[in-house]
Amino acid sequence: MPKIHVTDLDGSEADIDGRAGYTLMEELRSFNYSAIEAACGGSCSCATCHVIIDGAWFTKLSAPSETELELVSMAPGAEEHSRLSCQILLSDELDGLKIRIAQPGAA
Ligand code: FES
Repeated sequence: MPKIHVTDLDGSEADIDGRAGYTLMEELRSFNYSAIEAACGGSCSCATCHVIIDGAWFTKLSAPSETELELVSMAPGAEEHSRLSCQILLSDELDGLKIRIAQPGAA
């Protein structure tokens, strides 16, 4: 069960227990992170599940698709380590993953 360290919009931090086989977006929503709207339901077409990945973890994730790269680059507040949380599949290898919730807003 991968533990995920989450920094919310207000700077508050928490460790949540994610489930391997679920997406990061699904787990953030299950823990009521309201800024993660996930308007498209995880089909990589809305960018309302935008998160910023801690630099040390960014390269450990599977590479984003061209569609994700294009979409996340247009997300409000996009940064170098931005990802769409619906495209990150949790696994035990991601235990300790650190992320920050990005300012919400559609692309
Ligand atoms: S939920 Fe829409 S792009 Fe992730």
